[in-house]
Amino acid sequence: MNKTGVAVIGTGFWGKNHSRIYKELENTNLVAICDVNSERAKDIASQYGVKAYTDSSTMLKNPEIQAVSVCTWSIKLAEEALKCLHAGKHVLVEKPMATDTTQARMLVDTAETNGLHLSVGFLMRFIPGLQQIKRAVETKKIGEMVSATAKRVTQWPERIGDVGIVKDTAIHDIDVMRFILAEEPTSVYAKMGSMRHSQFEDYAQIMLTYESGKTAFIESNWLTPYKIRSLNVTGSEAIMRLDYNSQELLIDNAIETVQPRNAFEEPLKAELQHFIECITKKKKPIVTSEDGYKALEIALAAMESSAKNTVVKLK
Ligand SMILES: NC(=O)c1ccc[n+]([C@@H]2O[C@H](COP(=O)([O-])OP(=O)(O)OC[C@H]3O[C@@H](n4cnc5c(N)ncnc54)[C@H](O)[C@@H]3O)[C@@H](O)[C@H]2O)c1
Repeated sequence: MNKTGVAVIGTGFWGKNHSRIYKELENTNLVAICDVNSERAKDIASQYGVKAYTDSSTMLKNPEIQAVSVCTWSIKLAEEALKCLHAGKHVLVEKPMATDTTQARMLVDTAETNGLHLSVGFLMRFIPGLQQIKRAVETKKIGEMVSATAKRVTQWPERIGDVGIVKDTAIHDIDVMRFILAEEPTSVYAKMGSMRHSQFEDYAQIMLTYESGKTAFIESNWLTPYKIRSLNVTGSEAIMRLDYNSQELLIDNAIETVQPRNAFEEPLKAELQHFIECITKKKKPIVTSEDGYKALEIALAAMESSAKNTVVKLK
């Protein structure tokens, strides 16, 4: 089998998992990893028997590397992803992709101009229960969809010090809403603030409205002492409830509660496998670069709404 040569830039909490999975997948060959923290780079590289770099520009000269996962601090994602694209590599850049839409547009356009595949780390789309909810909304298995409510709350993971909860966490649910509704929100109203974090917002409530009359609510915080990650989708005939932690899905209708049995799958494994197949088998991407751009645009509009205490209209 022809294996795709891959590398990972940023091997902290999340990049370590990318590295492990690339080592596990049958169709990838982990060639090298890069982290500005030389100790960390050496550790991970020796664990997987690959070459360690602290400077990505040097690593990217290696022609064996065809695709790269960019898992650096959020404020460095766009810069590193752009370097990879300029070096002719396909890229999976972690969310939030960039710090602003100018950077995000630059990534989308550079990938397109150079004929490279660019995807964004919207992991939730690879959870079977969410895919089932999307199909149920599309086929009206729950009747007419009315609203969706997402909750993603936990304690502040202190390693995240460069962005607030909206770009780090709520962006997952902004993307989930775009995924299941297949309709762009027309306006956003949000309230956010900081109770413990000195620099960035650590709680946010975001409401998205749609031309069709549907509404989406997103609650995120780094304040709750235990972790809840859930999605409730209300239809005229049934309600679907997904627990992202257990991947358990429940469907309540007028007469019964049904629990479909979806085999537990590691979403990151499915995501990386799919990323590689988009490159080698030209599969239709589940997450496009434009999805990354749009989610960031909505996240920024939510921040503007809260700052100005007003509804922000979306294009
Ligand atoms: N999709 C998901 O579900 C998910 C989950 C967790 C984290 N993430 C994303 O992954 C990224 C990393 O998060 P984390 O929790 O692993 O953070 P982390 O702080 O644990 O790791 C980041 C690593 O990147 C390295 N780094 C920073 N800038 C670099 C650069 N220019 N070149 C090389 N290395 C660099 C740091 O030294 C550190 O080791 C963030 O963007 C985060 O939003 C996504």
